[in-house]
Amino acid sequence: MGALYAALKLAPRPVLVISPERVGEGASSAWAQGGVAAAMDVADSPDQHAADTVRAGAGTVDATIADKVTRDAKDYILDLTEMGTPFDRDADGNYVLSREAAHSLARVVRVQGDQAGRQIMEALITAVRQTPSVQVLEGVMAAGLEVDNGAVTGVWVETSALNRSKPSLVRGAAYLLAGGGSGGLYALTTNPPRIRGQVIGMAARAGAVIADAEFVQFHPTAIDAGEDPAPLATEALRGEGATLINRQGERFMLAIHPDAELAPRDIVARAIFAQTQAGNRPMLDTRAALGAKVLTQFPAVAEACARAGINPAVDPIPVAAAAHYHMGGIDTAEDGRASLGNLWVCGEASSTGLHGANRLASNGLLEALVFARTCAEGIAATLGAAPADVPEVAIDFAPGGSSPDFDLVQQLRQTMTNMVGVVRDAAGLKSALRTIATLEARQADCPDFVNMTATATLIAASALMREESRGGHYRSDYPEADPAMASRSRITLAEALAIRAAAVKETS
Ligand code: SIN
Repeated sequence: MGALYAALKLAPRPVLVISPERVGEGASSAWAQGGVAAAMDVADSPDQHAADTVRAGAGTVDATIADKVTRDAKDYILDLTEMGTPFDRDADGNYVLSREAAHSLARVVRVQGDQAGRQIMEALITAVRQTPSVQVLEGVMAAGLEVDNGAVTGVWVETSALNRSKPSLVRGAAYLLAGGGSGGLYALTTNPPRIRGQVIGMAARAGAVIADAEFVQFHPTAIDAGEDPAPLATEALRGEGATLINRQGERFMLAIHPDAELAPRDIVARAIFAQTQAGNRPMLDTRAALGAKVLTQFPAVAEACARAGINPAVDPIPVAAAAHYHMGGIDTAEDGRASLGNLWVCGEASSTGLHGANRLASNGLLEALVFARTCAEGIAATLGAAPADVPEVAIDFAPGGSSPDFDLVQQLRQTMTNMVGVVRDAAGLKSALRTIATLEARQADCPDFVNMTATATLIAASALMREESRGGHYRSDYPEADPAMASRSRITLAEALAIRAAAVKETS
Protein backbone atom coordinates (compact mmCIF):
# COMPACT_ATOMS: atom_id res chain seq x y z
CA MET A 1 0.00 0.00 0.00
CA GLY A 2 2.75 2.42 1.00
CA ALA A 3 4.59 2.03 -2.31
CA LEU A 4 1.49 2.78 -4.40
CA TYR A 5 0.32 5.68 -2.26
CA ALA A 6 3.81 7.24 -2.32
CA ALA A 7 4.06 6.79 -6.12
CA LEU A 8 0.73 8.61 -6.53
CA LYS A 9 1.81 11.41 -4.20
CA LEU A 10 5.05 11.82 -6.20
CA ALA A 11 3.21 12.30 -9.52
CA PRO A 12 4.02 13.77 -12.01
CA ARG A 13 7.61 12.95 -10.95
CA PRO A 14 8.61 9.66 -12.67
CA VAL A 15 8.53 6.64 -10.35
CA LEU A 16 9.49 3.02 -11.02
CA VAL A 17 7.58 0.56 -8.80
CA ILE A 18 8.86 -3.01 -8.70
CA SER A 19 6.48 -5.74 -7.62
CA PRO A 20 7.27 -9.47 -7.29
CA GLU A 21 3.75 -10.42 -8.40
CA ARG A 22 0.99 -8.60 -10.21
CA VAL A 23 0.92 -5.30 -8.42
CA GLY A 24 -1.01 -5.58 -5.16
CA GLU A 25 -1.11 -9.38 -5.19
CA GLY A 26 0.76 -11.04 -2.36
CA ALA A 27 1.05 -7.75 -0.44
CA SER A 28 0.23 -7.85 3.28
CA SER A 29 -1.95 -4.75 2.98
CA ALA A 30 -4.32 -6.53 0.60
CA TRP A 31 -4.86 -9.19 3.27
CA ALA A 32 -5.70 -6.70 6.04
CA GLN A 33 -9.23 -7.40 7.22
CA GLY A 34 -9.86 -4.94 10.04
CA GLY A 35 -9.46 -1.61 8.29
CA VAL A 36 -7.92 1.77 9.08
CA ALA A 37 -8.05 3.29 12.56
CA ALA A 38 -9.08 6.98 12.46
CA ALA A 39 -10.87 9.32 14.86
CA MET A 40 -13.96 9.84 12.66
CA ASP A 41 -16.64 9.89 15.36
CA VAL A 42 -17.62 13.22 16.97
CA ALA A 43 -17.08 11.55 20.36
CA ASP A 44 -13.52 10.63 19.34
CA SER A 45 -10.36 12.69 18.83
CA PRO A 46 -6.83 12.24 17.48
CA ASP A 47 -5.58 12.76 21.05
CA GLN A 48 -7.62 9.80 22.32
CA HIS A 49 -6.42 7.69 19.40
CA ALA A 50 -2.81 8.65 20.17
CA ALA A 51 -3.32 7.88 23.87
CA ASP A 52 -4.69 4.40 23.04
CA THR A 53 -1.72 3.83 20.72
CA VAL A 54 0.74 4.78 23.47
CA ARG A 55 -1.05 2.63 26.09
CA ALA A 56 -1.20 -0.47 23.85
CA GLY A 57 2.49 -0.08 22.98
CA ALA A 58 3.56 -1.11 26.50
CA GLY A 59 5.92 1.73 27.35
CA THR A 60 8.01 2.20 24.20
CA VAL A 61 5.82 4.15 21.75
CA ASP A 62 7.34 7.40 20.48
CA ALA A 63 4.60 9.90 21.47
CA THR A 64 5.68 12.37 18.77
CA ILE A 65 5.12 9.75 16.11
CA ALA A 66 1.78 8.71 17.66
CA ASP A 67 0.66 12.36 17.40
CA LYS A 68 1.92 12.68 13.83
CA VAL A 69 0.13 9.52 12.64
CA THR A 70 -3.20 10.04 14.40
CA ARG A 71 -3.50 13.82 13.84
CA ASP A 72 -4.70 13.77 10.23
CA ALA A 73 -6.03 10.20 10.06
CA LYS A 74 -9.45 11.44 8.95
CA ASP A 75 -7.94 13.19 5.89
CA TYR A 76 -6.49 9.90 4.67
CA ILE A 77 -9.90 8.23 4.92
CA LEU A 78 -11.42 11.08 2.91
CA ASP A 79 -8.59 10.86 0.35
CA LEU A 80 -9.08 7.08 -0.05
CA THR A 81 -12.84 7.62 -0.32
CA GLU A 82 -12.25 10.12 -3.12
CA MET A 83 -10.06 7.56 -4.89
CA GLY A 84 -12.99 5.14 -4.85
CA THR A 85 -12.62 3.02 -1.69
CA PRO A 86 -16.20 1.94 -0.82
CA PHE A 87 -15.99 2.32 2.96
CA ASP A 88 -19.08 1.06 4.82
CA ARG A 89 -21.58 3.87 5.55
CA ASP A 90 -24.82 3.95 7.50
CA ALA A 91 -28.14 5.27 6.14
CA ASP A 92 -27.08 8.85 7.02
CA GLY A 93 -23.78 8.51 5.16
CA ASN A 94 -21.66 8.25 8.32
CA TYR A 95 -18.70 5.86 8.25
CA VAL A 96 -19.47 2.56 10.03
CA LEU A 97 -16.86 2.11 12.75
CA SER A 98 -15.70 -1.22 14.23
CA ARG A 99 -14.36 -1.77 17.71
CA GLU A 100 -11.06 -3.62 18.01
CA ALA A 101 -8.97 -4.58 21.02
CA ALA A 102 -7.41 -1.84 23.17
CA HIS A 103 -9.25 0.97 21.36
CA SER A 104 -11.28 2.96 23.90
CA LEU A 105 -14.14 3.23 21.39
CA ALA A 106 -15.23 2.06 17.93
CA ARG A 107 -12.73 3.67 15.56
CA VAL A 108 -11.88 1.32 12.69
CA VAL A 109 -13.18 2.32 9.27
CA ARG A 110 -13.96 -0.81 7.29
CA VAL A 111 -15.18 -2.09 3.92
CA GLN A 112 -17.80 -4.84 3.63
CA GLY A 113 -16.89 -6.12 7.09
CA ASP A 114 -13.49 -7.68 6.44
CA GLN A 115 -12.54 -6.44 2.94
CA ALA A 116 -10.74 -3.18 3.79
CA GLY A 117 -7.21 -4.11 2.68
CA ARG A 118 -8.31 -5.62 -0.62
CA GLN A 119 -10.64 -2.76 -1.53
CA ILE A 120 -8.19 0.01 -0.62
CA MET A 121 -5.52 -1.74 -2.69
CA GLU A 122 -7.91 -2.01 -5.64
CA ALA A 123 -8.60 1.72 -5.50
CA LEU A 124 -4.87 2.49 -5.36
CA ILE A 125 -4.02 0.05 -8.18
CA THR A 126 -6.67 1.63 -10.40
CA ALA A 127 -5.28 5.08 -9.67
CA VAL A 128 -1.69 3.94 -10.34
CA ARG A 129 -2.67 2.34 -13.65
CA GLN A 130 -4.19 5.68 -14.68
CA THR A 131 -1.08 7.66 -13.69
CA PRO A 132 1.36 7.85 -16.60
CA SER A 133 4.29 8.95 -14.41
CA VAL A 134 4.28 5.59 -12.58
CA GLN A 135 5.93 2.64 -14.32
CA VAL A 136 5.20 -0.72 -12.70
CA LEU A 137 7.55 -3.65 -13.32
CA GLU A 138 5.81 -6.87 -12.28
CA GLY A 139 7.52 -10.19 -11.55
CA VAL A 140 10.61 -8.36 -10.29
CA MET A 141 11.94 -8.22 -6.74
CA ALA A 142 14.69 -6.37 -4.92
CA ALA A 143 17.55 -8.54 -3.72
CA GLY A 144 20.17 -6.07 -2.47
CA LEU A 145 21.17 -2.43 -2.15
CA GLU A 146 24.25 -0.83 -3.62
CA VAL A 147 25.78 1.59 -1.11
CA ASP A 148 28.53 4.13 -1.58
CA ASN A 149 29.82 6.27 1.24
CA GLY A 150 26.84 5.46 3.46
CA ALA A 151 24.23 6.32 0.83
CA VAL A 152 22.16 4.06 -1.41
CA THR A 153 23.14 4.37 -5.07
CA GLY A 154 21.26 1.46 -6.64
CA VAL A 155 19.06 -1.60 -6.13
CA TRP A 156 19.92 -5.12 -7.25
CA VAL A 157 16.79 -6.66 -8.71
CA GLU A 158 15.98 -10.12 -10.03
CA THR A 159 12.99 -11.88 -11.53
CA SER A 160 10.80 -13.39 -8.85
CA ALA A 161 9.67 -16.52 -10.68
CA LEU A 162 10.99 -19.91 -9.56
CA ASN A 163 13.68 -19.73 -12.27
CA ARG A 164 15.42 -16.66 -10.93
CA SER A 165 17.56 -14.36 -13.01
CA LYS A 166 20.93 -13.14 -11.86
CA PRO A 167 20.63 -9.78 -10.04
CA SER A 168 20.73 -6.64 -12.26
CA LEU A 169 21.50 -3.17 -10.96
CA VAL A 170 18.88 -0.41 -11.29
CA ARG A 171 19.80 3.17 -10.44
CA GLY A 172 17.45 6.01 -9.53
CA ALA A 173 17.60 9.42 -7.92
CA ALA A 174 16.08 8.28 -4.60
CA TYR A 175 14.97 4.96 -3.10
CA LEU A 176 11.87 4.02 -1.09
CA LEU A 177 11.47 0.61 0.54
CA ALA A 178 7.87 -0.44 1.13
CA GLY A 179 7.90 -4.22 0.89
CA GLY A 180 6.19 -5.54 4.02
CA GLY A 181 7.32 -7.18 7.24
CA SER A 182 8.49 -10.56 8.46
CA GLY A 183 5.46 -12.65 9.45
CA GLY A 184 6.12 -15.32 6.81
CA LEU A 185 9.45 -16.12 8.48
CA TYR A 186 7.24 -18.09 10.89
CA ALA A 187 5.66 -21.45 10.07
CA LEU A 188 2.39 -20.27 11.62
CA THR A 189 1.53 -16.90 10.09
CA THR A 190 -1.30 -14.82 8.68
CA ASN A 191 1.05 -13.08 6.18
CA PRO A 192 1.17 -13.76 2.43
CA PRO A 193 3.81 -16.36 1.45
CA ARG A 194 6.19 -13.81 -0.11
CA ILE A 195 6.47 -11.68 3.06
CA ARG A 196 9.48 -13.25 4.77
CA GLY A 197 11.53 -10.36 6.10
CA GLN A 198 13.49 -9.90 2.86
CA VAL A 199 13.23 -6.10 2.73
CA ILE A 200 14.42 -5.61 6.30
CA GLY A 201 17.19 -8.17 5.73
CA MET A 202 18.28 -6.48 2.50
CA ALA A 203 18.56 -3.08 4.21
CA ALA A 204 20.37 -4.59 7.20
CA ARG A 205 22.87 -6.32 4.91
CA ALA A 206 23.56 -2.92 3.34
CA GLY A 207 24.30 -1.47 6.80
CA ALA A 208 20.98 0.13 7.81
CA VAL A 209 20.18 0.26 11.53
CA ILE A 210 17.24 -1.96 12.55
CA ALA A 211 14.93 -0.98 15.44
CA ASP A 212 12.73 -3.05 17.78
CA ALA A 213 13.45 -6.28 15.89
CA GLU A 214 12.38 -8.44 18.86
CA PHE A 215 8.81 -7.13 18.80
CA VAL A 216 6.70 -9.45 16.65
CA GLN A 217 2.93 -9.33 17.06
CA PHE A 218 1.08 -12.63 17.16
CA HIS A 219 -2.58 -12.48 16.16
CA PRO A 220 -4.74 -14.52 18.55
CA THR A 221 -7.29 -15.70 16.02
CA ALA A 222 -5.69 -17.23 12.97
CA ILE A 223 -7.99 -19.99 11.72
CA ASP A 224 -6.32 -23.25 12.75
CA ALA A 225 -7.43 -25.63 10.02
CA GLY A 226 -4.14 -26.65 8.40
CA GLU A 227 -3.79 -23.89 5.77
CA ASP A 228 -0.44 -22.16 5.22
CA PRO A 229 -0.64 -19.20 5.59
CA ALA A 230 -3.38 -19.42 8.22
CA PRO A 231 -6.43 -17.30 7.29
CA LEU A 232 -7.29 -14.51 9.69
CA ALA A 233 -10.50 -14.27 11.70
CA THR A 234 -10.55 -10.51 12.18
CA GLU A 235 -10.54 -8.97 15.63
CA ALA A 236 -13.64 -7.03 14.54
CA LEU A 237 -15.55 -10.27 15.21
CA ARG A 238 -14.65 -9.95 18.88
CA GLY A 239 -15.59 -6.28 18.60
CA GLU A 240 -19.04 -7.52 17.55
CA GLY A 241 -19.23 -9.71 20.66
CA ALA A 242 -17.72 -13.04 19.53
CA THR A 243 -16.16 -14.92 22.45
CA LEU A 244 -13.19 -17.24 22.92
CA ILE A 245 -13.90 -20.66 24.33
CA ASN A 246 -12.00 -23.93 24.67
CA ARG A 247 -13.04 -27.51 24.03
CA GLN A 248 -14.60 -27.59 27.53
CA GLY A 249 -16.76 -24.59 26.53
CA GLU A 250 -14.98 -22.38 29.09
CA ARG A 251 -14.73 -18.64 28.24
CA PHE A 252 -11.14 -18.47 29.48
CA MET A 253 -10.41 -14.74 28.83
CA LEU A 254 -12.80 -13.71 31.63
CA ALA A 255 -10.31 -14.88 34.25
CA ILE A 256 -7.31 -13.27 32.53
CA HIS A 257 -8.19 -9.62 31.83
CA PRO A 258 -11.04 -7.23 32.71
CA ASP A 259 -11.54 -6.53 28.98
CA ALA A 260 -11.73 -10.30 28.32
CA GLU A 261 -11.66 -10.93 24.52
CA LEU A 262 -10.88 -7.24 23.87
CA ALA A 263 -7.76 -7.21 26.05
CA PRO A 264 -4.55 -6.03 24.30
CA ARG A 265 -3.58 -8.36 21.49
CA ASP A 266 -0.42 -9.74 23.14
CA ILE A 267 -2.39 -10.83 26.22
CA VAL A 268 -5.07 -12.59 24.17
CA ALA A 269 -2.42 -14.22 21.94
CA ARG A 270 -0.56 -15.65 24.95
CA ALA A 271 -3.82 -16.96 26.41
CA ILE A 272 -4.66 -18.68 23.11
CA PHE A 273 -1.13 -20.10 22.91
CA ALA A 274 -1.42 -21.47 26.47
CA GLN A 275 -4.76 -23.12 25.63
CA THR A 276 -3.24 -24.69 22.51
CA GLN A 277 -0.19 -25.93 24.43
CA ALA A 278 -2.46 -27.45 27.09
CA GLY A 279 -4.41 -29.32 24.38
CA ASN A 280 -7.55 -27.31 25.13
CA ARG A 281 -8.31 -26.44 21.48
CA PRO A 282 -9.19 -22.69 21.65
CA MET A 283 -12.04 -21.54 19.41
CA LEU A 284 -13.69 -18.30 18.36
CA ASP A 285 -17.42 -18.50 18.92
CA THR A 286 -19.41 -16.12 16.73
CA ARG A 287 -22.71 -17.99 17.08
CA ALA A 288 -24.50 -15.93 19.73
CA ALA A 289 -23.09 -12.58 18.63
CA LEU A 290 -23.63 -12.87 14.88
CA GLY A 291 -25.44 -16.08 14.01
CA ALA A 292 -25.81 -16.47 10.23
CA LYS A 293 -24.90 -12.78 9.72
CA VAL A 294 -21.22 -13.79 9.98
CA LEU A 295 -21.55 -15.37 6.54
CA THR A 296 -22.57 -12.15 4.83
CA GLN A 297 -20.96 -9.51 7.04
CA PHE A 298 -17.49 -11.14 7.12
CA PRO A 299 -17.10 -12.73 3.67
CA ALA A 300 -13.34 -13.44 3.91
CA VAL A 301 -13.78 -15.27 7.21
CA ALA A 302 -16.81 -17.16 5.86
CA GLU A 303 -14.85 -18.21 2.76
CA ALA A 304 -11.86 -19.44 4.78
CA CYS A 305 -14.20 -21.38 7.08
CA ALA A 306 -15.98 -22.91 4.08
CA ARG A 307 -12.64 -24.13 2.68
CA ALA A 308 -12.06 -25.90 6.01
CA GLY A 309 -15.60 -27.33 6.13
CA ILE A 310 -16.61 -25.10 9.08
CA ASN A 311 -19.93 -23.26 9.21
CA PRO A 312 -19.30 -20.49 11.76
CA ALA A 313 -23.04 -19.88 12.11
CA VAL A 314 -23.26 -23.33 13.65
CA ASP A 315 -19.77 -24.28 14.86
CA PRO A 316 -17.05 -22.36 16.71
CA ILE A 317 -13.91 -21.66 14.64
CA PRO A 318 -10.66 -23.35 15.81
CA VAL A 319 -7.95 -20.69 16.25
CA ALA A 320 -4.24 -20.39 17.02
CA ALA A 321 -1.83 -17.52 17.68
CA ALA A 322 0.10 -16.76 14.47
CA ALA A 323 2.84 -14.27 13.51
CA HIS A 324 0.95 -11.30 12.09
CA TYR A 325 2.88 -8.02 12.21
CA HIS A 326 6.47 -6.98 12.86
CA MET A 327 6.64 -3.85 15.00
CA GLY A 328 10.40 -3.89 14.35
CA GLY A 329 12.00 -3.00 11.06
CA ILE A 330 14.31 -0.53 9.38
CA ASP A 331 14.91 2.30 11.83
CA THR A 332 12.94 5.19 10.32
CA ALA A 333 13.01 8.82 11.45
CA GLU A 334 10.01 11.16 11.60
CA ASP A 335 10.86 12.36 8.07
CA GLY A 336 10.72 8.79 6.72
CA ARG A 337 14.49 8.47 6.28
CA ALA A 338 16.50 5.35 7.17
CA SER A 339 20.02 5.55 8.63
CA LEU A 340 21.52 5.16 5.12
CA GLY A 341 21.57 8.22 2.88
CA ASN A 342 19.09 8.52 0.01
CA LEU A 343 16.85 5.81 1.52
CA TRP A 344 13.25 6.29 2.68
CA VAL A 345 11.03 3.59 4.20
CA CYS A 346 7.31 3.21 4.91
CA GLY A 347 4.88 0.52 5.97
CA GLU A 348 5.69 -2.63 7.88
CA ALA A 349 9.32 -2.73 6.69
CA SER A 350 9.90 0.42 8.72
CA SER A 351 10.07 0.87 12.46
CA THR A 352 8.99 4.42 13.21
CA GLY A 353 8.27 4.04 16.93
CA LEU A 354 4.49 4.20 16.43
CA HIS A 355 3.78 0.66 17.56
CA GLY A 356 6.15 0.25 20.49
CA ALA A 357 6.10 -3.31 21.78
CA ASN A 358 2.52 -4.01 20.74
CA ARG A 359 0.72 -2.43 17.78
CA LEU A 360 -2.78 -1.09 18.31
CA ALA A 361 -5.08 -2.91 15.87
CA SER A 362 -5.63 -1.25 12.48
CA ASN A 363 -2.86 1.31 13.02
CA GLY A 364 -0.70 -0.50 10.44
CA LEU A 365 -2.44 0.71 7.28
CA LEU A 366 -2.75 4.23 8.71
CA GLU A 367 0.97 4.38 9.46
CA ALA A 368 1.77 3.16 5.92
CA LEU A 369 -0.36 5.93 4.40
CA VAL A 370 1.00 8.70 6.63
CA PHE A 371 4.64 7.76 6.12
CA ALA A 372 4.15 7.13 2.39
CA ARG A 373 3.10 10.77 2.05
CA THR A 374 5.92 11.93 4.32
CA CYS A 375 8.44 9.98 2.21
CA ALA A 376 7.00 11.31 -1.05
CA GLU A 377 7.20 14.89 0.23
CA GLY A 378 10.75 14.33 1.50
CA ILE A 379 11.91 12.79 -1.77
CA ALA A 380 10.32 15.57 -3.83
CA ALA A 381 11.90 18.26 -1.63
CA THR A 382 15.31 16.58 -1.82
CA LEU A 383 15.29 16.12 -5.59
CA GLY A 384 13.90 19.53 -6.54
CA ALA A 385 12.17 20.11 -9.86
CA ALA A 386 10.81 17.03 -11.63
CA PRO A 387 12.72 16.04 -14.77
CA ALA A 388 10.78 16.02 -18.03
CA ASP A 389 10.42 13.04 -20.38
CA VAL A 390 12.22 10.28 -18.50
CA PRO A 391 12.32 7.11 -20.63
CA GLU A 392 10.77 3.90 -19.28
CA VAL A 393 13.21 1.56 -17.55
CA ALA A 394 14.03 -1.68 -19.37
CA ILE A 395 16.12 -4.32 -17.61
CA ASP A 396 18.05 -7.13 -19.26
CA PHE A 397 17.81 -10.13 -16.98
CA ALA A 398 20.44 -12.85 -17.36
CA PRO A 399 19.34 -16.39 -16.43
CA GLY A 400 21.15 -18.42 -13.78
CA GLY A 401 20.14 -16.86 -10.45
CA SER A 402 19.30 -18.78 -7.31
CA SER A 403 15.90 -19.21 -5.58
CA PRO A 404 15.52 -20.16 -1.93
CA ASP A 405 15.48 -23.88 -1.27
CA PHE A 406 11.97 -24.86 -0.12
CA ASP A 407 13.15 -27.23 2.64
CA LEU A 408 15.63 -24.73 4.05
CA VAL A 409 12.92 -22.05 4.17
CA GLN A 410 10.52 -24.44 5.91
CA GLN A 411 13.18 -25.35 8.49
CA LEU A 412 13.85 -21.66 9.09
CA ARG A 413 10.14 -20.95 9.55
CA GLN A 414 9.65 -23.89 11.94
CA THR A 415 12.65 -22.75 13.99
CA MET A 416 11.19 -19.26 14.29
CA THR A 417 7.79 -20.57 15.39
CA ASN A 418 9.25 -23.08 17.87
CA MET A 419 12.06 -20.98 19.37
CA VAL A 420 11.37 -17.30 18.62
CA GLY A 421 7.59 -17.39 18.93
CA VAL A 422 4.93 -16.38 21.45
CA VAL A 423 6.99 -17.62 24.44
CA ARG A 424 10.78 -17.36 24.35
CA ASP A 425 13.74 -18.16 26.59
CA ALA A 426 17.52 -17.83 26.36
CA ALA A 427 18.19 -21.50 25.61
CA GLY A 428 15.64 -21.56 22.76
CA LEU A 429 16.83 -18.27 21.27
CA LYS A 430 20.47 -19.41 21.26
CA SER A 431 19.45 -22.70 19.70
CA ALA A 432 17.50 -20.74 17.04
CA LEU A 433 20.56 -18.58 16.28
CA ARG A 434 22.68 -21.70 15.79
CA THR A 435 20.10 -23.26 13.45
CA ILE A 436 19.76 -20.02 11.45
CA ALA A 437 23.57 -19.94 11.02
CA THR A 438 23.62 -23.54 9.79
CA LEU A 439 20.73 -23.01 7.36
CA GLU A 440 22.25 -19.78 6.02
CA ALA A 441 25.57 -21.52 5.31
CA ARG A 442 23.74 -24.06 3.17
CA GLN A 443 22.53 -21.43 0.68
CA ALA A 444 24.75 -18.43 1.27
CA ASP A 445 24.80 -17.62 -2.47
CA CYS A 446 21.04 -16.96 -2.64
CA PRO A 447 20.31 -13.27 -1.92
CA ASP A 448 16.61 -13.89 -1.25
CA PHE A 449 17.41 -16.55 1.34
CA VAL A 450 20.18 -14.62 3.10
CA ASN A 451 17.85 -11.62 3.33
CA MET A 452 15.47 -13.92 5.24
CA THR A 453 18.17 -15.35 7.51
CA ALA A 454 19.48 -11.82 8.21
CA THR A 455 16.06 -10.78 9.53
CA ALA A 456 15.64 -14.03 11.46
CA THR A 457 19.04 -13.39 13.05
CA LEU A 458 18.08 -9.82 13.96
CA ILE A 459 14.81 -10.93 15.60
CA ALA A 460 16.39 -13.79 17.58
CA ALA A 461 19.46 -11.78 18.65
CA SER A 462 17.37 -8.78 19.76
CA ALA A 463 14.99 -11.11 21.63
CA LEU A 464 17.99 -12.66 23.40
CA MET A 465 19.29 -9.23 24.39
CA ARG A 466 15.95 -8.04 25.83
CA GLU A 467 15.95 -9.80 29.20
CA GLU A 468 12.42 -8.82 30.20
CA SER A 469 8.86 -9.29 28.91
CA ARG A 470 7.10 -6.42 27.18
CA GLY A 471 4.21 -6.35 24.71
CA GLY A 472 4.64 -8.98 22.00
CA HIS A 473 8.02 -10.08 23.42
CA TYR A 474 7.52 -12.61 26.24
CA ARG A 475 10.47 -14.32 27.94
CA SER A 476 9.51 -17.20 30.24
CA ASP A 477 12.90 -16.75 31.94
CA TYR A 478 12.23 -13.01 32.49
CA PRO A 479 8.42 -12.88 32.80
CA GLU A 480 8.15 -9.31 34.12
CA ALA A 481 8.66 -5.95 32.42
CA ASP A 482 11.81 -4.16 33.64
CA PRO A 483 11.12 -0.40 33.91
CA ALA A 484 14.80 0.24 33.17
CA MET A 485 14.32 -1.35 29.74
CA ALA A 486 11.31 0.73 28.67
CA SER A 487 13.01 2.01 25.53
CA ARG A 488 13.33 1.06 21.90
CA SER A 489 16.16 -1.22 20.76
CA ARG A 490 18.52 -0.59 17.87
CA ILE A 491 20.90 -3.08 16.31
CA THR A 492 22.99 -3.53 13.17
CA LEU A 493 23.36 -6.82 11.36
CA ALA A 494 27.06 -6.88 12.32
CA GLU A 495 26.06 -6.71 16.00
CA ALA A 496 23.40 -9.40 15.57
CA LEU A 497 25.89 -11.66 13.77
CA ALA A 498 28.34 -11.25 16.68
CA ILE A 499 25.59 -12.37 19.10
CA ARG A 500 24.87 -15.32 16.80
CA ALA A 501 28.57 -16.23 16.60
CA ALA A 502 28.75 -16.24 20.41
CA ALA A 503 25.76 -18.62 20.56
CA VAL A 504 27.45 -20.90 18.03
CA LYS A 505 30.71 -20.79 19.99
CA GLU A 506 28.98 -21.81 23.24
CA THR A 507 28.40 -25.32 21.94
CA SER A 508 31.59 -25.81 19.93
C1 SIN B 1 -7.68 -7.83 12.32
O1 SIN B 1 -8.54 -7.55 11.50
O2 SIN B 1 -7.89 -8.51 13.31
C2 SIN B 1 -6.30 -7.36 12.08
C3 SIN B 1 -6.25 -5.91 12.10
C4 SIN B 1 -4.83 -5.50 12.28
O3 SIN B 1 -3.98 -6.35 12.46
O4 SIN B 1 -4.58 -4.30 12.32
